[in-house]
Amino acid sequence: MRLVLLGPPGSGKGTQAAALIGRLGVPKISTGDMLRAALQAGTPLGKEAQGFMSAGKLVPDSVVIGLVEERLAQADAKKGFILDGFPRTVAQAEALGTLLQKLDTPLERVVQIDVPRELVEERTTLRRTDKRTGQIYHLKYSPPPPDAELEHRADDRAETVKKRLDEYEGMTAALLPFYDRLGILQRVDGVGKPEEVTARMLSALGLSA
Ligand code: AP5
Repeated sequence: MRLVLLGPPGSGKGTQAAALIGRLGVPKISTGDMLRAALQAGTPLGKEAQGFMSAGKLVPDSVVIGLVEERLAQADAKKGFILDGFPRTVAQAEALGTLLQKLDTPLERVVQIDVPRELVEERTTLRRTDKRTGQIYHLKYSPPPPDAELEHRADDRAETVKKRLDEYEGMTAALLPFYDRLGILQRVDGVGKPEEVTARMLSALGLSA
């Protein structure tokens, strides 16, 4: 399965990708996770991305496209992938299409997770991640265990979340008509318990729960 997950910040792309990897047997490829890892490691790429990320802006297309090209060339991505957070602009979607065409492995599905803006703000500001395991928690909806080593993402502060939502509405929402025209877009209601959303995703993908 070659699948792209779309949706506003905090809509549950990472949570759903984690729930689906076992079922689909393919890796989750998150540009946000890769950029945060580069930033933490202090690589030149991380330093280049830092200013954009902390301002809630998209990192330039050339940077993320190169990152994804390298990642998709790795052996585990040959059997398929779940892309989480990429593409985010029409230029990224076109670059992905060209790359996959060269490999003769076209994208099969794009699933948009729909969540209203007011809910997304609550989901992001109360999100916490265990820095040892990468497990995503929510202080209200998915409380972490007492021994988790929690971190709060720097771009999850309310004012930065608003900017990320504006970027999403200004740039990334244009991908919906793009993929709709290709006939591979499905939309899933992202409101409800994570496992309810997973069941809807599986049904959209034609898989049993
Ligand atoms: P990225 O890390 O991709 O962030 P994002 O797209 O804004 O998405 P999030 O990670 O915030 O949310 P999510 O949808 O994965 O939700 P989650 O499952 O965690 O990107 C960060 C930055 O990197 C960007 O701003 C940009 O600067 C840069 N970047 C990355 N990719 C780029 C690209 N391609 N081009 C350019 N720049 C790029 O869930 C959120 C919370 O809600 C959690 O606490 C979770 O526990 C909870 N939750 C999830 N589902 C439910 C549910 N059903 N009910 C209740 N709570 C739920």
